[in-house]
Amino acid sequence: MYKNILLLLVLCVSSALCRTVTFKIISFGSKVQVKINKSKYTLKPLNNDEILYAGKLSTAPEGKFNYHYIVDGKEENFNRVFDANASTTYIEFFERKDTVKKLKTFSYPNNNWNRSIGKTELFDDSYIPTIHITGKTADELFTKPQNKYYTLEKVTFYFKNSKKVVTNVKANPKNKNFAKFQIKMNINSKNNVYGRYLLKLRNGGEDPTNLRQFIYGNIIQALGMPSIHSNMVRVYYNKKPVGFYTLQEEAYSDSFIRAEFYGNSTTQAINAPSKLGYALDGSCGADFEYHPDDMTYYWPFAEKSGESKDRLVALCGAISKLNVNSSSAVKKFEQQWFDIDTFHKAMAMEYLTGDWDGYWYATSNFAVYDDPNQSTKNTYKFYFITQDHDETFGVGLCPPHNTVGYNFPKISYTTMLNREWHVVPDDADHRTLVDKFIAGSPALQKRFQNTLISIVQNIFNPVAFRNVVSSYYNRYQPEMKWDFSFKRSYTPSAAAAAGSPNYTYNDFETNMEKKVGGLEWGLYEWVSLRAEAIKKEFCITWNGDSNPPKKSCKPANNL
Ligand SMILES: *[C@@H]1O[C@H](CO)[C@@H](O)[C@H](O)[C@H]1NC(C)=O
Ligand SMILES: *[C@@H]1O[C@H](CO)[C@@H](O)[C@H](O)[C@H]1NC(C)=O
Ligand SMILES: *[C@@H]1O[C@H](CO)[C@@H](O)[C@H](O)[C@H]1NC(C)=O
Ligand SMILES: *[C@@H]1O[C@H](CO)[C@@H](O)[C@H](O)[C@H]1NC(C)=O
Ligand SMILES: *[C@@H]1O[C@H](CO)[C@@H](O)[C@H](O)[C@H]1NC(C)=O
Ligand SMILES: *[C@@H]1O[C@H](CO)[C@@H](O)[C@H](O)[C@H]1NC(C)=O
Ligand SMILES: *[C@@H]1O[C@H](CO)[C@@H](O)[C@H](O)[C@H]1NC(C)=O
Repeated sequence: MYKNILLLLVLCVSSALCRTVTFKIISFGSKVQVKINKSKYTLKPLNNDEILYAGKLSTAPEGKFNYHYIVDGKEENFNRVFDANASTTYIEFFERKDTVKKLKTFSYPNNNWNRSIGKTELFDDSYIPTIHITGKTADELFTKPQNKYYTLEKVTFYFKNSKKVVTNVKANPKNKNFAKFQIKMNINSKNNVYGRYLLKLRNGGEDPTNLRQFIYGNIIQALGMPSIHSNMVRVYYNKKPVGFYTLQEEAYSDSFIRAEFYGNSTTQAINAPSKLGYALDGSCGADFEYHPDDMTYYWPFAEKSGESKDRLVALCGAISKLNVNSSSAVKKFEQQWFDIDTFHKAMAMEYLTGDWDGYWYATSNFAVYDDPNQSTKNTYKFYFITQDHDETFGVGLCPPHNTVGYNFPKISYTTMLNREWHVVPDDADHRTLVDKFIAGSPALQKRFQNTLISIVQNIFNPVAFRNVVSSYYNRYQPEMKWDFSFKRSYTPSAAAAAGSPNYTYNDFETNMEKKVGGLEWGLYEWVSLRAEAIKKEFCITWNGDSNPPKKSCKPANNL
């Protein structure tokens, strides 16, 4: 397949000193070359690919050697190193120095979630995948996005070692008040991408760092709960730049449920029941009181066509009957009806990040799923799954959810128990799951509080958090620079854009540490304030804490 490639120069005198190596690189130019020492070799489109060029060189030097690429006469200004034992490069990207670079990871001792297929090559974040959307429809979508479903002729995903082409992808745009709008892609499940077939391209339009959702997702994965996966990707259409996006799953999609509940991360196989349970999408007002005679109460839950809310209502009935003061009843309930451990982790994260658009603050942006493999004829085992993590770490935290301004991160979680809510017209009156499974009994509250404290000690403190997130910043900083370097193909009308922030590259850098216009807290600043408040409340500390609590510190409660 490479035989039409011209090898201009023979490097080695004796072929015994030579080896055959393959170069692969994504480029948006037309003349692509690799340069080794002073010699240049031309690479050709791989099987007529639009942007992936490759070439096999049978006269490459033995041992480790340096090389770099040239596109349309422009040379990379750094050296790449070809390993002595390698026979091919990964799929490289012109002018990106590190093709593969491991990010640091959060770690948590009680991660028991072993049901996920895992990251696979799709969400392998040591690599930055490229997504290239081609065809006539892409021109329409990216220049004049409308509220409708488009059928994209072809979407190509480029990963570290492989590419995947999918065709006839149903796509619809969202948040068109931003030039960098979001897109949901429905791929035919038979042609799935490493097991997944519903994928979103998300942008933190209100998040200058563009990292909050990615960080949140990686933390909840580390904690061990069913969690949507993300990766940071570059997106192009018809060889034009679209932007640097968060590629992400959707919590109530079959694609996510199959991969996250019935996967094996070692074999990457999915072993789902032929009929999945029902995943319900909870939006503003979705709560769990028991109103069997009033289905209007459950309107904020959306079910899929052909499914129903009967199991949800059964769950609410079981919750209303549960005596939370009986530890044996709680234990049985956890086995039969609802996973309290992962719910506690989810609530701790909503509280820690000030996730004001989630369940605890807004009865919104979550899914519940009943797993048939753990259910019986009369009992349905449910899991709580959070999603839409862009309004976090201070983003969008205004009245009516925030009535104390900058001091918001100092508010104790204990002010959010057994209270009347109905903060906005659509909001529910109560937080049944919180009042039952956190505030319901001293034992449950202690269990939640221990989870909260453990997350702060292991992850959500200034030392551990910065250690990991700075590796994200270093990795993605050049990508963010690129993201702000071109004019997007679509500009929202002034009326549509009014009221939405229009952040700059400079805001990206600044907001890692400090506030920017319209956002009171820097990312690290938020974590620091929240962690310090919890330190004070419970007299805790963490590795590397430069200001541990005094011996005289008294915890706010003695659960
Ligand atoms: C590259 O060139 C230098 C000096 O011209 C030479 O010493 C070296 O062996 C060459 N390396 C390879 C891998 O050909
Ligand atoms: C090549 O060797 C290095 C260590 O020198 C190792 O880390 C790497 O995995 C090896 N690569 C292959 C393709 O065997
Ligand atoms: C998966 O986790 C569950 C719950 O912690 C445990 O019971 C089970 O043994 C684990 N399975 C494997 C294969 O490790
Ligand atoms: C995944 O599959 C492997 C190989 O069949 C098996 O040993 C392992 O226990 C499985 N893991 C889980 C969590 O089921
Ligand atoms: C779930 O149940 C189905 C049908 O009973 C079974 O085929 C499958 O192996 C189960 N999956 C897991 C992960 O246990
Ligand atoms: C559970 O016990 C607490 C006191 O420990 C009490 O306030 C509460 O009313 C009890 N709840 C139920 C449902 O019995
Ligand atoms: C946002 O700012 C960019 C560059 O600063 C500008 O080109 C663009 O028109 C602005 N968009 C809106 C909606 O104001």
